[in-house]
Amino acid sequence: MSESSSAPSALDLALSSAASTVEAALDRYLPPASGPASRLGEAVRHSLGGGKFVRPMLVRMAAETFGLPPEAVTPAACAFELLHTATLVHDDLPAIDDADLRRGRPSAHAAFDEPTAILAGDAMIVAAFAAMADQARVPVTPPARVMPVVAEFALATQAVIAGELVDILSEKAPPDADLLVFIHTHKTASLIRAAVRAGAMLAGASAGGLAAATAYGESVGLLFQVTDDLLDVTGDVEALGKPAGLDAAAGKLTYPGVFGYDGAVTRANELAEAARAAVTKLPSPSDLWLALIDLILTRRT
Ligand code: IPE
Ligand code: IPE
Ligand code: MG
Ligand code: MG
Ligand code: MG
Repeated sequence: MSESSSAPSALDLALSSAASTVEAALDRYLPPASGPASRLGEAVRHSLGGGKFVRPMLVRMAAETFGLPPEAVTPAACAFELLHTATLVHDDLPAIDDADLRRGRPSAHAAFDEPTAILAGDAMIVAAFAAMADQARVPVTPPARVMPVVAEFALATQAVIAGELVDILSEKAPPDADLLVFIHTHKTASLIRAAVRAGAMLAGASAGGLAAATAYGESVGLLFQVTDDLLDVTGDVEALGKPAGLDAAAGKLTYPGVFGYDGAVTRANELAEAARAAVTKLPSPSDLWLALIDLILTRRT
């Protein structure tokens, strides 16, 4: 909920609707929490939930703007949250960022163990694809509409993986703005861009509408990681629910590291402006599109 008012904003409601809809629908895609592999199902359920649900909300927002009720894209919204959560579980592993806290709870490898966390991430990645394929069972999104979304979702996932590898390979590298953009567009913006595009594509957006949604997703996606980098400098573990200060300690390539704190804030404002320009090209966008830009720009969590 926003700090400035006591009544929830339309964006607060959109995020909480995304959370409750996805949480109610997720279970059918998850490994069982009973039987010999119950530990796998428990680790997956431990990791899901407690996040902001930005990516499912983007799928729903784009679908609605292009003419579908948000409930029609619940399987795709689940797919994005599953994939995103898998990347967080793997990102926190000792071999990657070595972070023991996520979403205010012990990370999967800390709550369980490393093999379980690796396999729980794997299980969520395939669950994400099961969910995305399940979107074809919704009558308003027939298989011919879903298949291109599945293909893009796979390539966006591959981009995240590439970004995560280069993020690690670049630790303690000298400042390099091109490499920084590669890392951030791959590890973070690719999935956010794909979420906006998925909602638009499932709703049958025109080429022009899809281009505007794509431009929005690219700017908001990069903005999201710029502010994540800033929060690693200024944020506190209580509000973030994850450790702060890890980027500098690991020598990561980050926006504040390459451009300085003020330079990163300037870049964030430029990206927000580019996203606002994309909104003007959308057909009848709801207020959520602009509100989300402001939330990402000013977020504390
Ligand atoms: C964290 O994403 C990882 C990044 C891409 C920066 P979020 O900030 O969306 O994490 P949750 O889902 O709200 O926990
Ligand atoms: C990771 O970026 C983005 C992912 C694809 C997981 P970070 O490593 O900065 O994300 P946080 O700060 O741990 O959430
Ligand atoms: Mg990382
Ligand atoms: Mg990390
Ligand atoms: Mg970070």
